[in-house]
Amino acid sequence: MMKEKTRIAVLVSGGGTNLQALIDAQNSGIIHSGEISLVISNNQNAYALTRARNAGIKALYISKKESKAQEAFETAIIEALEENDIDLIVLAGFMSILSERFTSRYDHRILNIHPSLIPSFCGQGYYGLKVHEAALEKGVKVTGATVHFVNEIPDGGEIIAQKAVEVEDGDTPEILQRRVMEQAEWIILPQAVERIADQISNAN
Ligand code: GRF
Repeated sequence: MMKEKTRIAVLVSGGGTNLQALIDAQNSGIIHSGEISLVISNNQNAYALTRARNAGIKALYISKKESKAQEAFETAIIEALEENDIDLIVLAGFMSILSERFTSRYDHRILNIHPSLIPSFCGQGYYGLKVHEAALEKGVKVTGATVHFVNEIPDGGEIIAQKAVEVEDGDTPEILQRRVMEQAEWIILPQAVERIADQISNAN
């Protein structure tokens, strides 16, 4: 009997380059045990929503402002996930905190890509360019990216995959961010999503 593909939702807030890497990986067959069925953004202007629509993927904007409280915001996301029978959630440049109520509901079913080698430069306040600013400030010679399960501790869940990237003389935070994306994030996130999607579809 054909095994069911794992239904994947990607949560985004910004440019969506990691979402694009997932879409490209699905099209090239790197991701074949799952299918990206839904994209949700808390930012109405996120170019990630355009990328989803261009790929024919259902794209939703769920406003945190309108839903006022965190709980109402998360309830709206949960309703969308349930309506679309989602099995696996991927946070890809998602810039909103998710409570323990949410993360415990989806135990070992939420992945996140973080642009450093955890446990370096992670946790409260380390996101986007700030991560690379801190790495350059510290003077590390190697940085990279990490895919991990999401729990109630920011960047605290089990590590699934990591890839190292050289820091080069003269790097600015923007140059380093781009290299980490190209040489690490866009490679290990699709690989990790396929691995976990395969585990889920085999378990069902
Ligand atoms: C990237 O640095 C990613 O590591 C972080 O958010 C940034 C933007 O990602 N999680 P994207 O281009 O929106 O995927």
